[in-house]
Amino acid sequence: MHYEKEETIQIYQGWDEFYAVEVGDKLDFFSRNGRLFDVIFAQQFNRSFLDSMCNLANQIRTLARTKMGAQKLSSLLSHKRAMLYFVQPSTRTFISFLNACHILGMRESEIRGTTTSSEVKGESQEDTIRTFASYVDLIVIRHPEEGFAEKAAWVLNQTDRPVPVINGGSGPDQHPTQALLDIYTLGRSFENIGGLDGKKIAMVGDLKRGRTVRSLSYLMKNYKDITLYFVSPEVFKMKDDIKAFLNKHKIEFYETDDFASVMPKVDAIYMTRIQKEYSETPSNEVDVYPEFHFTKEHLSTIQSHCIIMHPLPRRYEIDVDVDKDPRAVYWQQERNGMWMRTALITHIFGVEDKIAAEFN
Ligand code: CP
Repeated sequence: MHYEKEETIQIYQGWDEFYAVEVGDKLDFFSRNGRLFDVIFAQQFNRSFLDSMCNLANQIRTLARTKMGAQKLSSLLSHKRAMLYFVQPSTRTFISFLNACHILGMRESEIRGTTTSSEVKGESQEDTIRTFASYVDLIVIRHPEEGFAEKAAWVLNQTDRPVPVINGGSGPDQHPTQALLDIYTLGRSFENIGGLDGKKIAMVGDLKRGRTVRSLSYLMKNYKDITLYFVSPEVFKMKDDIKAFLNKHKIEFYETDDFASVMPKVDAIYMTRIQKEYSETPSNEVDVYPEFHFTKEHLSTIQSHCIIMHPLPRRYEIDVDVDKDPRAVYWQQERNGMWMRTALITHIFGVEDKIAAEFN
């Protein structure tokens, strides 16, 4: 059974105690009535949920092509309002959530920096979040502080006006909705070659602080016979918590700094940027690692079906010349985010049946 307020208060004495609980042991706290309420961790997504979200995103994409379909979509949640609280820089996540709200007819408010909210007057994070909940029905959060979105969900779930919280990226830890759109992109790319099961995926770059690759790694447990190649300089190796998770779920993975040897073996290459914003000593950190860049010359070394992904924004990791190759799917990946985030909001408010009805 899912979260009930009284029960949770009895179990956990406060936020610090709740935060310390293993993620896998507190997932029910973020669901209600058999569906996701808050979306905080990639570990909340199982295979049937992922499959249903990909199917729903396809249906939304199809409906949005026609005026009649778009009108149908925009009537679904026209009585709901969303708050986009993005106090860490974002282009794609912000705009795709904004447009997801528009597709569903939701109105939205936004705060894009703590300097323009009453936090500068000393208002606590808890009171700030409660204030948002007074006005809206959904809060999407991008915050530099690890655990902030989880804390917001925790705070609101103790109040008389809990509204769903979606984690749009919290510190270097997790980016669950990016993982959803990545799965959708992988699934669309491999739909004619057996789907994602059995595929080999290389994740390249700053794996230590790249929250997208961390969240995507968690989702691999939902697929059969996946092999991961973690390709990075020593200083940016994937953290032990993800490797322990993969070992626990018997997911094969390899670590290497030899990108050239991995390229011909894999079905997907997921490039990432060096996350300089989390560096404690940015002036000492090298920003350019040419051996971990994908260039036009590499196109001839990868398989004909191998896709090249990137959560974007990119810096030097992929040559612009690569963009024209049909295997470069990062611009589709970016657009897939809008469809997938629309699907997610549809699920949270329980109106996906109204979309499915259009296809019966
Ligand atoms: N992929 C991603 O999260 O991009 P933004 O930082 O632009 O939102």
